Amino acid sequence: MAYFPDDLAGRTYLVTGASSGIGAATARALGRAGANVALAARRRAASATLAGEIEAAGGKALVVAMDVGIESEVQAAVAATVACFGRLDGAFNNAGLLGVATSLHEIETADFDAVLRTNVSGVFWSMKYEIAAMLATGGGVIVNNASLVAQVAFPGLSAYTASKHAVLGLTRTAALEYFKQGIRINAVCPGPVETPMAVQGFGSLENLQAATLAFPAGRPGQPEEIARPVLFLLSEAASYISGQGLTIDGGYTVQ
Ligand SMILES: NC(=O)c1ccc[n+]([C@@H]2O[C@H](COP(=O)([O-])OP(=O)(O)OC[C@H]3O[C@@H](n4cnc5c(N)ncnc54)[C@H](OP(=O)(O)O)[C@@H]3O)[C@@H](O)[C@H]2O)c1
Repeated sequence: MAYFPDDLAGRTYLVTGASSGIGAATARALGRAGANVALAARRRAASATLAGEIEAAGGKALVVAMDVGIESEVQAAVAATVACFGRLDGAFNNAGLLGVATSLHEIETADFDAVLRTNVSGVFWSMKYEIAAMLATGGGVIVNNASLVAQVAFPGLSAYTASKHAVLGLTRTAALEYFKQGIRINAVCPGPVETPMAVQGFGSLENLQAATLAFPAGRPGQPEEIARPVLFLLSEAASYISGQGLTIDGGYTVQ
């Protein structure tokens, strides 16, 4: 099913974590909507394959090798996007790390720090440099990828859950700070989505499917089912929406 808002064409969007899963699906959808897309992730080869696909379909893509846990690389990725396309209209801050799933007292401090560095500092640095670029050209729009665990908790995921609660906190605070300056900032809060991260987290695709049988949807989400709401939030159709965490969970949290 295609969903392409018609006001994204010709605009420029940065997607972090574009080399796989939800980020790749969103970058692909942005390309189909006629947008210029900067694909930022550590794995250049995977991003380059996707860039080729976007360009073959008539879109424009830039590949940026970037570790979102290194501030200078995030700053350079935003600068490279502006240098290539002239401005930054929007961003999907999606790069994330699940970390080791275990009880809180067994989490190594280094593992806890790694999750917070990628998921919290990474989103902070992304927004810091994106917002500066957007303020210079009169505004923009940001969507952060939080998670269902920004709103509820799952045992064994302390670091990840804490980090995604923080993403929602950053989203809400920044939304208040920048609405009057023309920047809307929202988050999406997906439940389990069939990506390499979730398959790894649940141990196998079969386990992921079994775990979601009890969801009203009875199945995991697909990356495109997150990409479409992200495009909606990036579009002018969402012009009065800011500071929200949009739950996309196959009905799980209303049970
Ligand atoms: N799948 C789910 O069930 C689910 C549910 C809720 C929220 N989410 C969130 O969705 C986002 C995307 O995850 P996914 O499920 O699509 O998993 P995925 O397919 O494993 O993709 C993860 C992406 O994040 C990038 N990434 C990880 N660490 C990075 C770093 N330090 N610097 C730059 N990029 C980095 C990876 O790129 P490289 O490895 O190339 O750097 C990859 O593109 C994450 O924030 C995740 O927390 C996922």
